[in-house]
Amino acid sequence: MQLVNGFKLMEYAKEKKLILPAFNTTNYELTAGIVKGYEAMGLGGYIAISSSNLKLSSPKIIANMVKAAMKDVSTPIALHLDHGKSFEDVKACIDAGFTSIMVDASHLPLEENIKEVKRTVEYCHFYGIPVEAELGAIGGKEDDHISEEDAKTNPEDVRSFVEQTQCDMLAVAIGNVHGMDLVPKLDFPLLEEIAEISSVPLVLHGGSGIPFNQVRRARENNLIKVNYGSDLRQAFIRTFGSAYEINHNEFDIMSLSKEAIINVEDRVKAIIREVNIH
Ligand code: G3H
Ligand code: ZN
Repeated sequence: MQLVNGFKLMEYAKEKKLILPAFNTTNYELTAGIVKGYEAMGLGGYIAISSSNLKLSSPKIIANMVKAAMKDVSTPIALHLDHGKSFEDVKACIDAGFTSIMVDASHLPLEENIKEVKRTVEYCHFYGIPVEAELGAIGGKEDDHISEEDAKTNPEDVRSFVEQTQCDMLAVAIGNVHGMDLVPKLDFPLLEEIAEISSVPLVLHGGSGIPFNQVRRARENNLIKVNYGSDLRQAFIRTFGSAYEINHNEFDIMSLSKEAIINVEDRVKAIIREVNIH
């Protein structure tokens, strides 16, 4: 199956009342495990990669790898730029065939964030690609960035932010955190208030470490996408780490890589199952 357009995937989620996972990849094994997990569960979602992780390879390499991994897949999957940090990254990903984009200018003052998102939306909508933006600052560690300022999304900014930027999804900061070092404390009254105001569906970052019953509770508040990165990376890294602990001379990279793909696939299946229990 080809990569699906992000707008089509959003329609699919609404029709099937699904929360779409966005699983972060970095390399071939994570990509293969994610695709196998989606196919095994028969549900669609996103494969995502952040600007900082694209430094290891390139949008073209990632896009070609994902397309190849999807050759025999029958579930709808979009390739999503996560936490897009520059307009150059956005353009390079669109050129490479990404079908969904996040521009993350949440570290900038509000007016700057609006300006950056507006510019990105105008560009991406020209290619028929949806744009996710972030309002408020999500704490924790995302790749190589540690964000101290955990400034929750201000509901008073939501309406004008969405109207001025015309973004298609809104990532909110409601006590969710990136990474596994901090404990997420979701502010549900705030989420409910934002969901009432926002004319676009919401996105929850920092899925790793959030209890699944809380993700399901958040689903009732116009949540369309939940991002998972650290959870899968741990499954990948632990495969090699535990092998090394057993045998410091381990060098069978083929067997370990195959095992890592299975471990990632198992986590993907578990997450898809848990977030979409009705
Ligand atoms: O953008 C990526 C996700 O927000 C990753 O968060 O590593 O806490 O699952 P996580
Ligand atoms: Zn994130």
